[in-house]
Amino acid sequence: MSEFKEYAAWDAPTRWFHWLNVLAVVGLIGTGLVVLFDDALGLSASGKLTLKSVHASFGYVMVFNLFWRFAWAFLGNRYARWRAIVPGGPGYFVALRAYTDSFLTGEPQQYVGHNPLARIAVALLFLLLLVQAVTGLVLVGTDLYWPPFGHWFAAWVAAPGVDPSLVVPGAAHLIDNTSYDAMRAFRSPFVEVHELGFYALAALIVLHVIAVVATEVHEGGSITSAMFTGRKILSRPPPDAP
Ligand code: HEM
Repeated sequence: MSEFKEYAAWDAPTRWFHWLNVLAVVGLIGTGLVVLFDDALGLSASGKLTLKSVHASFGYVMVFNLFWRFAWAFLGNRYARWRAIVPGGPGYFVALRAYTDSFLTGEPQQYVGHNPLARIAVALLFLLLLVQAVTGLVLVGTDLYWPPFGHWFAAWVAAPGVDPSLVVPGAAHLIDNTSYDAMRAFRSPFVEVHELGFYALAALIVLHVIAVVATEVHEGGSITSAMFTGRKILSRPPPDAP
């Protein structure tokens, strides 16, 4: 009979990051979908503006939370750190092979932190969130003139002699049309990347949930509850324990 042992896996800041990120991303995907289909849904101009403001407010929560998590990857416990997330480093490919081999034999290795396969998915998730954060912050500057770049875009499009701090969405009489068109052309690739990022992220989130359920079913190890309690209960000695 296997012997169960309990391990401290996710520290409190990592768990808080995770669930706050889930809430913010669900809000972003929900409101982002409506922005994507705003014309088909027949939204008015002011309705679109309100929607973008709500979407961007979820966005700021996501961005602060994400940057906080990136800082925590330098400070947190061994399972919260960059070297436990980013695939690569000494012995990574050997560990990946050992993990996939063990998975195929039906007795997968049980990790306290991310297993080597999960590290690829988690690093990709972080990368896509970063892409959405950067492009989103540019878009909120071009659409609503909100920080951190809004003042710069307002100064770009303001008509000669107009104080950029007075420029608000829809105030056509305060805007120089040629500069506005140039600003919209600059913005265009950011919209494209933001939209592609959305599709990629949505697909990866589905994959992430499937992988978590599959791991829980195949390995046991209480990996879902560990994101609430911080503790994993494992029946085999984990390769990444101290
Ligand atoms: C998980 C992260 C995010 C997802 C999945 C997401 C999703 C989306 C989607 C699907 C759209 C519609 C794109 C289109 O109209 O072509 C959109 C638009 C937008 N997003 Fe995000 N977004 C995210 C993060 C952010 C962040 C962090 C901000 C800013 C703080 C932001 C600001 C905006 C703005 C201003 C628009 C309007 C662009 C337009 O006028 O079409 N987003 N987002």
